[in-house]
Amino acid sequence: MRYQFSNAYSRFFLLAMIVTALLSWSCGKAKNESLPPEVSGTVTIALSDHPSLQRAGNAVSLHNTPLDRGLIVACTEEGVWRAFDSWCTHQGCEVSVSAYGGLECPCHISRFTIEGVPATGPAPRPLVEYKTQLNGDSLLVLLDERTVR
Ligand code: FES
Repeated sequence: MRYQFSNAYSRFFLLAMIVTALLSWSCGKAKNESLPPEVSGTVTIALSDHPSLQRAGNAVSLHNTPLDRGLIVACTEEGVWRAFDSWCTHQGCEVSVSAYGGLECPCHISRFTIEGVPATGPAPRPLVEYKTQLNGDSLLVLLDERTVR
């Protein structure tokens, strides 16, 4: 079916609606969601340097990495370690290990579970996660293999 617009007003109205929808979509995305830049490489963590990571429910923040905001490594179950980008998925501030036991972003108080899932606050999605691999006493974090949930 073909639509015809009888006058310039109709065409202007349609154009204004399209522009408004596009602006709303792009601004909303920029304001409410942020993802870290992609990086390459492997981070090697000696687990013996972080005794707290031997117990489930503990996490550490690491800054000596190629990531802009650093890395969070969590022991989510006995013998299971997961690695998250510290980049907050709300507006990109640094998430760190919180005294209450989870993860927290100080900018707008988003809190995440130890599995990187948002619990409260404006963060719209889980933290970006990197694949990990155990190699003897070391945990390898493969920065090329990330998951955006
Ligand atoms: S940047 Fe807003 S809650 Fe983290």
